[in-house]
Amino acid sequence: MVKNQEKIGVVIALGMNGEGILKDEDYTIFVPFALPTEKIKYKVLKVSKNCVYGKLLEVLTPAEERVRTKCKVFTKCGGCQLQHLRYSAQLSAKENNIKTCFSKIANLKVEVMPAVKGECEYRYRNKLQLPVRQTENGAILGFYAENSHRVIEIEDCEINGYYVQSIIKAFKRYFTEYNVKGYEEQTHSGDVREITVKEVGDKLIITVVTLSRILPHKEELLKILREEIKQDFSLYQNVNSAVTNVIYGKEFILHYGKGEYQAEMFSVKYKIGVQSFMQVNTSVCHKLYSAVREGLNLNEKTIVIDAYSGAGLMTALLAQRAKKAIGVEIIKEAVDIANKLATDNGLKDKIINYCGKCEELLPKIIKREKQENNDVAVVLDPPRKGVDIKVIKAILESDIDRIAYVSCLPSSLARDIGLLVGTLEEKDGEIKRVENPTLRYNIELIKPFDMFAQTKHVETLVILNKNK
Ligand SMILES: C[S@@+](CC[C@H](N)C(=O)[O-])C[C@H]1O[C@@H](n2cnc3c(N)ncnc32)[C@H](O)[C@@H]1O
Repeated sequence: MVKNQEKIGVVIALGMNGEGILKDEDYTIFVPFALPTEKIKYKVLKVSKNCVYGKLLEVLTPAEERVRTKCKVFTKCGGCQLQHLRYSAQLSAKENNIKTCFSKIANLKVEVMPAVKGECEYRYRNKLQLPVRQTENGAILGFYAENSHRVIEIEDCEINGYYVQSIIKAFKRYFTEYNVKGYEEQTHSGDVREITVKEVGDKLIITVVTLSRILPHKEELLKILREEIKQDFSLYQNVNSAVTNVIYGKEFILHYGKGEYQAEMFSVKYKIGVQSFMQVNTSVCHKLYSAVREGLNLNEKTIVIDAYSGAGLMTALLAQRAKKAIGVEIIKEAVDIANKLATDNGLKDKIINYCGKCEELLPKIIKREKQENNDVAVVLDPPRKGVDIKVIKAILESDIDRIAYVSCLPSSLARDIGLLVGTLEEKDGEIKRVENPTLRYNIELIKPFDMFAQTKHVETLVILNKNK
């Protein structure tokens, strides 16, 4: 195999990143946007050891599951990887990926439940980030191409709410009518770096990230926004003058509107502000949180520890059904919001929120609660890299009965479940398979939640019960 060679082959499987997988001699070939059973023509882009990365040139025999894609920039923008695959097959692929991770990583043969769908396969996202770049033809806004910092200009985004159309129209007008400059990475210059939007119910929180404290033609921007956007909105400016990939700088200035809006889930009222964490798909989030509560079998004697608790919405939902809920979260602002949320919902006496690292605080909290002979259940909802080994060890040492693990990455989930259940062990920083393990936990449930339809991503809930 050599670079730039054009080849023909048949796709035998779908990879974890939604790409087609082919075999040729000793090579495994990855070709994005190709589907199993398809005969394709592809170009070799990169050859490394036994792996080849290719570009799809032509689908010679399309798969039955191939569907017409909605988006004009699908395959160019890095947002969606699976629009070309029928939705039911997307769900099966995600279920299979989880199964494969459990088998390959954790040596566990598991049943995976059918994935839970949201209300919509498209138009479900409530959060938008649009980088703005200066080009020869003026400022453009769009999404990054996969694994790159090149901005692909867009007019709409099919997985975001319809609000995206009026946002793009309004900002295009603003850039053109007032010659506002987009950001130039190489020279670190320009006026506007990024536009971000959050949709809370039918209201929008719009933020313009600028390089300096100057927001050019602010009044004119507001006039355009009022003309183009037919829903209630707030306008923030965020100042980010650093050379960085981090979107926001420290300073937020509210120019228009209330700045935060109230939302509600299972009668818990919470406020979403410019910096609040929000799950991107509200309808799937409802179903996920509800399944966590059900799965843990909470009662008025249970102390539930919500590790990696964010802004405390799930902690409050757990507290409604338990004796007490304890949240642990590293970000101070999120803990402040979680405390306010507890007070506002009359749950102050049932919730304690700690600010700190789970790996430092959780061992002490679990030990204390178990020593008091409490019935303790644990929720783990870590970032993509999964749970720290110290947290796993603390759980194993203290005989926790019920665990709910919520994950957005099947590979780190499988590793952590293997460690908890006992098919894997950690020794001197290395994770190894255990020969003939005695299983510490029963895997009661593995349920995918399709929070991110049309993309390769999936959220998964696992419920573990102590093997007695
Ligand atoms: C996937 S989010 C879950 C948030 C929350 N459970 C929810 O559903 O909204 C993970 C959270 O873990 C927090 N986090 C990351 N590392 C942490 C650590 N070592 N200790 C405690 N919290 C951490 C992040 O700030 C983030 O809020």
